[in-house]
Amino acid sequence: MAALCNRFSKACATITNRHFKISTYVRSMSNVPENTVYGGPKPQNPDQRVTLTSLRTKHRKGEAITMVTAYDYPSAVHLDTAGIDIALVGDSASMVVHGHDTTLPITLDEMLMHCRSVARGAKRPLLAVDTAVRVLKEGGMDAIKLEGGAPSRISAAKHIVEAGIAVMGHVGLTPQAISVLGGFRPQGRNVLSAVKVVETALALQEAGCFSVVLECVPAPVAAAATSVLRIPTIGIGAGPFCSGQVLVYHDLLGMMQHPHHAKVTPKFCKQFAQVGEVINKALSDYKQEVENRSFPGALHSPYKINTTEVDGFLKELQKMGLDEAAAAAAEAAEKVEANR
Ligand code: KIV
Repeated sequence: MAALCNRFSKACATITNRHFKISTYVRSMSNVPENTVYGGPKPQNPDQRVTLTSLRTKHRKGEAITMVTAYDYPSAVHLDTAGIDIALVGDSASMVVHGHDTTLPITLDEMLMHCRSVARGAKRPLLAVDTAVRVLKEGGMDAIKLEGGAPSRISAAKHIVEAGIAVMGHVGLTPQAISVLGGFRPQGRNVLSAVKVVETALALQEAGCFSVVLECVPAPVAAAATSVLRIPTIGIGAGPFCSGQVLVYHDLLGMMQHPHHAKVTPKFCKQFAQVGEVINKALSDYKQEVENRSFPGALHSPYKINTTEVDGFLKELQKMGLDEAAAAAAEAAEKVEANR
């Protein structure tokens, strides 16, 4: 999707430029989110958590890996419940959550907020984030995803892995580079470009990446990369021959009904539901019921006050000179009684 595609915030750029320094970072923070006043999330069960080891086992057995983007607590809980393997806090949030036209404008602080919310909701999936190391440390993520295969990116991936941080590569259409790619264009459609996809994926594997996303490349190119790599490939618009697949949450749920989003939903995205229609209907029913005053009815007005208290209340209001308020309260009490 155009929406998927462009995720290079200024903040992320800053962080990316710092990749060479990150060998000094130690991954000291646990990915368990902070406690909350409401008791917080249940402690994560390390046996159930998806890890690089469990992903490798799946890959070795030829089982497909599932990845979906998540940006907040509810989407993370849904992914968790569905047993999705990897929750990717993608900077596609810039478009599908923040309403920007590209993924560029999202800030590091905004990404951090998404990471923390997802980390609170997803107990089981491996948590990966686009690019930023600080987001990993402060946002409770397990791994980062790094787009592109230029020598500087390969070397950044190597440095990050050496610093003890798991890296997922991303080749083909790398949305953060749309200005260089000339827009959201599929890659690997001629010999040169197809070979480059495979070579870049190999270089990312050699740099220590644990997996590579292949975005918008023809199926035979993805098949070749999948066959040549020891690490799993996760496809998006790359056909069926990858080790796993990823889609953007809002796209797969059919959430975006707005004409702008309908236009940018990519051809390769199957809508597994029309959640947007359900949301639209719920909101318009709500609006109608509020406007015609049928909501909230007796069923949804649960808090009662007995007649003695009402009488006392009315007297107090009158003493205070609030006769109109007392009349309104008396009328309401009568109506409530009549509707019982
Ligand atoms: O940022 C993102 O959401 C992504 C995926 C869709 C692969 O890069």
